[in-house]
Amino acid sequence: MDKLIIRGGRRLKGDVEISGAKNAALPIILASLLSSGFGTVSRVPDLRDILTIGQLLEYLGAEFHYEDKKAVINTERIGIFEAPYELVRTMRASVLVIGPLLARFGKAKVSLPGGCAIGARPINLHLMGLEKMGAKIELESGYVIAKAKRLKGALIYLDIPTVTGTENLMMAASLAKGRTLLENAAKEPEVVDLANALISMGAKIKGAGESVIEIEGVDELRPLNYSIIPDRIEAGTFMTIAGITAGDIIIKGCRLEHLDAPIIKLIEAGLVFENVSEGMRVIGPPRPKAADVKTMPYPGFPTDMQAQFMALMSIAEGTSIIKETIFENRFMHVAELRRMGADITVEGCTATVKGIRRLRCAPLMATDLRASASLIVAALAAEGETTIHRIYHLERGYEKMEEKLPGLGADVRRVRE
Ligand code: EPU
Repeated sequence: MDKLIIRGGRRLKGDVEISGAKNAALPIILASLLSSGFGTVSRVPDLRDILTIGQLLEYLGAEFHYEDKKAVINTERIGIFEAPYELVRTMRASVLVIGPLLARFGKAKVSLPGGCAIGARPINLHLMGLEKMGAKIELESGYVIAKAKRLKGALIYLDIPTVTGTENLMMAASLAKGRTLLENAAKEPEVVDLANALISMGAKIKGAGESVIEIEGVDELRPLNYSIIPDRIEAGTFMTIAGITAGDIIIKGCRLEHLDAPIIKLIEAGLVFENVSEGMRVIGPPRPKAADVKTMPYPGFPTDMQAQFMALMSIAEGTSIIKETIFENRFMHVAELRRMGADITVEGCTATVKGIRRLRCAPLMATDLRASASLIVAALAAEGETTIHRIYHLERGYEKMEEKLPGLGADVRRVRE
């Protein structure tokens, strides 16, 4: 297990290239299961979650080859229709195999994911939608077993605009007989990217990015050949890093239209954004100002940026109120930030952050992916040398952070425990 040692206080400067989006790459790679043959996905980030999805595909009988940001997947010989507990436990996105397996082979068995560090995270809406499409669902020894002769189009209303739920159902509906309407669908850019990937395979999908998605099922899809969108959360994390280090960073290759809410909040916090030929230049103020945020489904402020924004607010001038409305337990980073001297109190889903002038170093423990990103943001501005343990969480979602940060002048070392 590795740890990161960060000596804070440097003003980060330079440019950084944003990688492909993890949360778009995972469903799009799995969409290859909807067709038979060789598919390729480019701009795939080099992350632990991508290796896990490759293992899952190989377990099902597919060939998976990943090199130089490109995944090549051969789905001609799928012989197993199950996502086992060991893989779902390490990566919840494994539940995204249900839709494609059920639609193409009429059967899928997937371990029911348990709760995780950020909340209970049930998949009842995924299953409800599949049942509406005619699937028979049973629960047996912790596994969901879904069967269907051929799925049929249905009118499905999602009580919550679930991201992976929308993705699972959109994939299933692409090969169903007839038309599916997904109402109150998630609008996240990753959902739109998956829809575009499916359309490139021959799927008939309208309205992705809006709250009603219409899918006219087809009999067959072509193999996939697609390039992933840039990771908006990685880009937002580097913007926060510019903010907390009074830095001057050019963020290259991101899609700014996916970051409206975070950028507006970062401007409120005193950051300056300037369009330059290489990308977006982000300049941090001498000290950030307090700004309130409430996480919401897209286009609202993303829950995946909440922890990093809180780290920034911990040294802001004034008090900010941060409300988490998507997950019930996504404040695990608070205890760690407090160990650095941050003045944060939590009541229910609301954190009150009274900005202090300077954070101090401390030994810290990463608890989940975005919490670890927030600890890095905080450590970069802290006095002294901060050690962050359990950085394997970070490696699930940030490509080569220990190279990108020193590229901006940060004093970061990765050390074996
Ligand atoms: N929910 C239900 N029932 C369901 C599905 C969801 O009650 O059947 C609830 C969840 O418990 C949660 C809320 O609905 O309270 C929203 O969850 P959603 O299903 O939208 O989240 P997800 O699809 O499991 C994806 C991302 C997360 C990101 C969320 C919200 C992937 C692989 N994961 O999760 O990413 O936080 O959407 O935007 O796309 C991360 O990258 O760090 C991460 C956790």
